[in-house]
Amino acid sequence: MISIVYVTNTGSSKAYAQMLSEKTGYAAYSLADSGSVPEESEVIFIGWVMAGSLQGLKEARERFGNLKAVIAVGMMKSEKQDKDLKEKNGITEPFFSLPGAFDMKKLTGMHKMMMGMMVKMMKSKLKETDDPKAKEVVEKFEEGFDMIDEKHLSEVLEFLG
Ligand SMILES: Cc1cc2nc3c(=O)[nH]c(=O)nc-3n(C[C@H](O)[C@H](O)[C@H](O)COP(=O)(O)O)c2cc1C
Repeated sequence: MISIVYVTNTGSSKAYAQMLSEKTGYAAYSLADSGSVPEESEVIFIGWVMAGSLQGLKEARERFGNLKAVIAVGMMKSEKQDKDLKEKNGITEPFFSLPGAFDMKKLTGMHKMMMGMMVKMMKSKLKETDDPKAKEVVEKFEEGFDMIDEKHLSEVLEFLG
């Protein structure tokens, strides 16, 4: 038996957990509700990336031991970040990363402050460059973006067979 366990802040990891659940028939649980996960179950963990750290992974490992797969939802997908994530978070399990969503309006507290500072820094750097791409990136953060799509689950589904 396999179960999906997720940790989310603004809903993208939950959205992927639900999509994966629909595609595979495996039940999806929030880590906060991990008491409901059947004892004999293998666990696929889905968490969101914050400053290079995969949220909830440590707790999921403590609760479930070995994980069947680890899935990171972030605001980008890059080989460099995947490599760094695996190293920093000690991920030796089969690993996948998925592009999530970003909406400043959904953030609160420390998270909002961190991203607010990041956007402010990017904005101040705009003055030193005339690269239109840099402007575009700032606009994207200000407006928000959503890259959640079931097509990104294809590698995970292939792995699960
Ligand atoms: C404070 C903060 C730090 C973040 N750091 C990263 C990061 O290092 N790498 C990344 O790809 N995404 C980063 N993100 C983006 C989130 O991982 C992304 O928005 C993700 O979809 C959030 O998932 P959730 O909706 O399940 O909470 C960060 C977001 C916040 C709020």
